[in-house]
Amino acid sequence: MKFRLALVVAVAALATAGLASAQQPIVLKFSHVVAVDTPKGKGAEQFKKLAEERTKGRVKVEVFPNSSLFKDGEEMEALQLGSVQMLAPSLAKFGPLGVREFEVFDLPYIFDNTEELHKVTGGPVGAGLFKKLESKGIIGLAYWDNGFKDMSANKPIRVPADYKGLKMRIQSSKVLGDEMKALGAIPQVMAFSEVYQALQTGVVDGTENPPSNFYTQKMHEVQKYLALTNHGYLGYAVIVNKKFWDGLPPDIRTALESAMKDATTYANGLAQKDNDDAIEAARKSGKTEIITLTAEQKAAMKKALLPVHKDNESRIGKDTIAEVYKETGFKP
Ligand code: LMR
Repeated sequence: MKFRLALVVAVAALATAGLASAQQPIVLKFSHVVAVDTPKGKGAEQFKKLAEERTKGRVKVEVFPNSSLFKDGEEMEALQLGSVQMLAPSLAKFGPLGVREFEVFDLPYIFDNTEELHKVTGGPVGAGLFKKLESKGIIGLAYWDNGFKDMSANKPIRVPADYKGLKMRIQSSKVLGDEMKALGAIPQVMAFSEVYQALQTGVVDGTENPPSNFYTQKMHEVQKYLALTNHGYLGYAVIVNKKFWDGLPPDIRTALESAMKDATTYANGLAQKDNDDAIEAARKSGKTEIITLTAEQKAAMKKALLPVHKDNESRIGKDTIAEVYKETGFKP
């Protein structure tokens, strides 16, 4: 009898413990600024799915797309304070955090293709940049692709002279500011969530982004021209709050690492097609004219933009730039 009672009590205790853990999963908030239907948006959803499956519900991932929780300029601080546990900011947004070396990715024409980029993110430079985040209370988990950027405006933009005097929205990167200045444009740093309205009301005249962002933010409705300049790259670092990550039970952390690894493969596998599809969708909308540059026009853009590399040597670090050149075979 005694034994049966003890058994009943033990089973009840176990059930309660199970219930408690089922009721109180670890919540991981993942905030980002783009639409769900983008490479990053889909990558975040895939991470949620895999993370919840592989932790058997012990982790609940809440994804907040489209700046619905935090905007640019707020989200890094929110991560450091622990108000959100995971972000995937563009590599152009780490300067304000004090890790200016990330702006190496913004240098015009530094990558010819995604293979070259992957050599850098998957090599010592990528690992070294993540190491630098640790003193900021942040851990870098993965690099996610978006793609090469194109320029847009309400006038045809083919050669540097076309950019003269245009107010161009940029992300918070000094390299991107210098890039616009090198074209004779006036750079304006602005949160991604504000770009559509700023273009619509004429607060800015144009911008740059990969086509997937351009189309999913409906910028084609408020920009008459999209020039396929491919002048620079935009990708992401998936980052987490270090205290949160280090405090996870080891088996949970391992499961989340495996979910991130597979979500990365998934997201990176989609990026190129998403961008190609977005150009076609923008073209089909009939609202934006897609401009393809001639070889001469491309060469003129490159000539105007390449001095940005040298001008930013002291900001980014000569060694970091040299290491990237070595990985990619870029000849200044
Ligand atoms: C931008 O602000 O233009 C991009 O960083 C948005 C994004 O996250 O892709």
